[in-house]
Amino acid sequence: MFRETLTVTDNRTGSSYELPIEQGTVKALDLRQIKVGDNDFGLMSYDPGLTNTASAKSAITFIDGDQGILRYRGYPIEQLAAHSSYLETAYLLIFGDLPDPAQLAGWVRDVGRHTMLHTNIQHLIETFRYNAHPMSVFISATASLSTLYPDARRIADPANRLLQVERMIAKAATIAAFTYRHNQGWPCNFPDDSLSFIGNFLRMMFRMTEQRYLPNPVLERAVNILFILHADHEQNCGTNAMRVIGSSQADPYSALAGAAAALYGPLHGAANEAVLNMLEQIGSPANVPAFLERVKRGEGERLMGFGHRVYKNYDPRCRIIKRTAEEVFEVTGRNPLLDVALELERIALQDDYFVSRKLYPNVDFYSGLIYRAMKLPASMFTVMFAVPRTCGWVAHWLELVADPEQKISRPRQIYTGSEAERAPGRG
Ligand code: ACO
Repeated sequence: MFRETLTVTDNRTGSSYELPIEQGTVKALDLRQIKVGDNDFGLMSYDPGLTNTASAKSAITFIDGDQGILRYRGYPIEQLAAHSSYLETAYLLIFGDLPDPAQLAGWVRDVGRHTMLHTNIQHLIETFRYNAHPMSVFISATASLSTLYPDARRIADPANRLLQVERMIAKAATIAAFTYRHNQGWPCNFPDDSLSFIGNFLRMMFRMTEQRYLPNPVLERAVNILFILHADHEQNCGTNAMRVIGSSQADPYSALAGAAAALYGPLHGAANEAVLNMLEQIGSPANVPAFLERVKRGEGERLMGFGHRVYKNYDPRCRIIKRTAEEVFEVTGRNPLLDVALELERIALQDDYFVSRKLYPNVDFYSGLIYRAMKLPASMFTVMFAVPRTCGWVAHWLELVADPEQKISRPRQIYTGSEAERAPGRG
């Protein structure tokens, strides 16, 4: 009869230990009993980048990276992208199931009530230079929300938490739109609740002199799909930042700003911006082979938008985005950079360097092309990622706060500095 345990023998001492295995994991703290003597601190695991450490139990998002499967609360991403709205998906992530029509109407109303932005935050956005990176502005403005809502620090109160969650989802969109308008030098458009959440967002972004702005339905559908695909992706760098900051019981706006800051890096959510810059730099399909040779020789940057820590197969979101891009180009005209992207994908997926490392296009490979077709500057792309990811971040924050097993996040280190005490002032 097999037992759900792991037997470890410490060859330094000859002692054996039996560690329980639960849900495919051993507890890192169970290693601590493994010691060479009474004064020994005990064994720790070393895992920079937390590549093989589960830091949370979560019921929100399931990913099978080898099979290329992504599900929110059990629902396949393909079905949600085809049939759901962004706010309905946000409800699913946060409350655990899809809403019935009455619940959805109530949720849309409750979130819609918070789309207005206090003029303090609008003025704050307007104090930044017009060419400040929109993601830096977005991070600063989301952090500043905590100055307006000090009640957010009462995180033990579930009703209060929900209020902040509604505010964060709604205001992330308004902050993004105001940031864009400031970047372009255009006055802000205030929210219009006669439109859908996405329709209102597009109006706040793009309305110029029209009396009645009506979003193009193909573009509205495309942004709805992109928002659903970007809504959550379990314990990635940004979500981990949200949880780490939330674990100290800081207010959720501060945690949200930290999560957005993590997203800002080019290895994470700013890859979509880096992809567009890369495609522009390559310029034409004819230059693709030489570019890929440089990537393989490690001479320049990586092939941005390729590779993923979890997916070792085609990212299922990328397949949907590629289809959506074709629909958008029917309206906006075809972007010639799509041909460069298609050629990169075609050659890379036949090349042993990429095949052997299981490097496939990820969510960011084609998303920037859609946003560029909507005339957004590349610097706005990560903001367009942060707006919908806000609902994933807050779902994880709610899960964290309610989880009795969670503690303040505080990793260990392997100290590599001087062992001896040093005296100041001596050469
Ligand atoms: N181009 C070229 N080579 C790559 C790439 C790439 N995009 N990604 C990984 N590799 C190579 C590495 O050089 C390494 O090769 P080696 O074994 O010969 O040293 C091997 O593949 C493994 O790479 P790691 O960096 O160890 O993989 P990791 O899981 O740590 O990184 C990451 C994942 C950061 C996404 C990486 O693939 C990458 O940098 N991709 C480009 C940036 C990008 O698109 N990021 C967006 C990810 S999706 C998101 O965050 C929303």
